[in-house]
Amino acid sequence: MSLVEAAREVRENAYAPYSRFKVGAAVRGKSGRIYRGVNVENVAYPEGTCAEAGAIAAMIAAGETELIEVAVIADSPSPVPPCGGCRQKLAEFGRHDTPVTLATIDGGRLDTTVGDLLPGRFDISHMDRA
Ligand code: THU
Repeated sequence: MSLVEAAREVRENAYAPYSRFKVGAAVRGKSGRIYRGVNVENVAYPEGTCAEAGAIAAMIAAGETELIEVAVIADSPSPVPPCGGCRQKLAEFGRHDTPVTLATIDGGRLDTTVGDLLPGRFDISHMDRA
């Protein structure tokens, strides 16, 4: 199954009663396994979490720490861009050239990479004071 297809399927389970904007995400770990996530909103709005965060959490819970491909899908007029926080989360576990497909349920596609989504990211080298 393609990663976009996995994201499309899981999107149905998003919990988005406040924004009514369901998002599905899927990441492929280095092993080839696919991990899925959806946005999970909360009546205390800032407590909501993004689909990308859910997919990453599923990957980590399964014992993998490297993602090799990402897909995000929503019912959006143009492919939905991950929020700033999710870009940093993807950068933690992906490489600069890790492919990211942003999709719409109507077939829109934008192919990008983790590095292009977050140029100049904060990484561990910035904490190296030696
Ligand atoms: N959202 C995601 O889950 N991922 C994105 O890439 C963009 C936004 C969610 C957060 C919130 O539940 C809803 O979309 C509207 O912002």
